Amino acid sequence: VHVIVVCGGSGAEHDVSVASADSILEHLDATAYRATRLVIGRDGRWFRDGEALPGLAAAVALLEGADVVFPIIHGTGGEDGTLAALLDLCGVPYVGPGLRAGAVSMDKHLTKLLARDADVRVAPGVMLDTRQPDALGSFPAGLDAPVFVKPNQEGSSFGVSRVTDLDELEKAVAHAAEFDRYVLVEKEVAGREIDIAVIERPDGTLAVSAPLEIRVGSGTFFDTDAKYAEGGAEFLVPAPVPDTTAERIGQVSLLLYGLLGCEGLARFDYFVDDLGEPILNEVNVVPGLTAHSQVPRMFKAQGIEYSELLDILITTALT
Ligand code: DAL
Ligand code: MG
Repeated sequence: VHVIVVCGGSGAEHDVSVASADSILEHLDATAYRATRLVIGRDGRWFRDGEALPGLAAAVALLEGADVVFPIIHGTGGEDGTLAALLDLCGVPYVGPGLRAGAVSMDKHLTKLLARDADVRVAPGVMLDTRQPDALGSFPAGLDAPVFVKPNQEGSSFGVSRVTDLDELEKAVAHAAEFDRYVLVEKEVAGREIDIAVIERPDGTLAVSAPLEIRVGSGTFFDTDAKYAEGGAEFLVPAPVPDTTAERIGQVSLLLYGLLGCEGLARFDYFVDDLGEPILNEVNVVPGLTAHSQVPRMFKAQGIEYSELLDILITTALT
């Protein structure tokens, strides 16, 4: 089976994507799969084995010749549905969801609106269009510090700040706006940070991973450094929560998986309050698969090794 792994991209998560792809290539069962890596450069050019392809048509020709494609571009130009749309046009099977789930889940604000409509709790907050004059003028009085300021569509915590003094808000919004003109300002949620993943088996049934708790130092958050530096954060897997809480998080995730139209794999990130109730933070339909990432750890806790996880994802895409 010839798998083409597509990584990189022009977005901020380029390096993370390449790291995810390297882990995939390292763990793919070489007896079952022949793998090719295609990298989209920061400049938008496509590369195979370090060599630039003459243009998009050449990349499309390669993709059309694959048995299956494994897109692992996080965020802009990949996870947001862009790559899924291209692969649909190529008529080639691929791992993960189509355009809609990608486009909707990359839009944190829209995801929150859908979740809230389904009675899933989300952090109170507002979305600002920073191109509007006096965007901060519409800032509601009830949102007192600490708040999180985030680009609406970005990943790996790029552009995210925790603001404890509202005098710093303008600077934080300007920083987030370097990544996306739409900026979310959200009330900090008191709760433990717990992620869970849903995977689709080849027979179409869904399986929920073990929950994973993320612990970072107090007064800090799971920022880009904590995400990718060795020892930047501590993962507890399975998360030490009562079974009822784990079940509740799993149920909410299955609901969201269906609502968003996810396929293959998705990771759901929550804050869990003292009563064990999950408050949705965000959804990742192309979650990190680096050696430091949550998803391989979550499934390993259930006895599913990384290679087997990849096998499930690819077999499901081919079925
Ligand atoms: N956006 C990063 C890759 C993640 O969700 O794991
Ligand atoms: Mg994300």
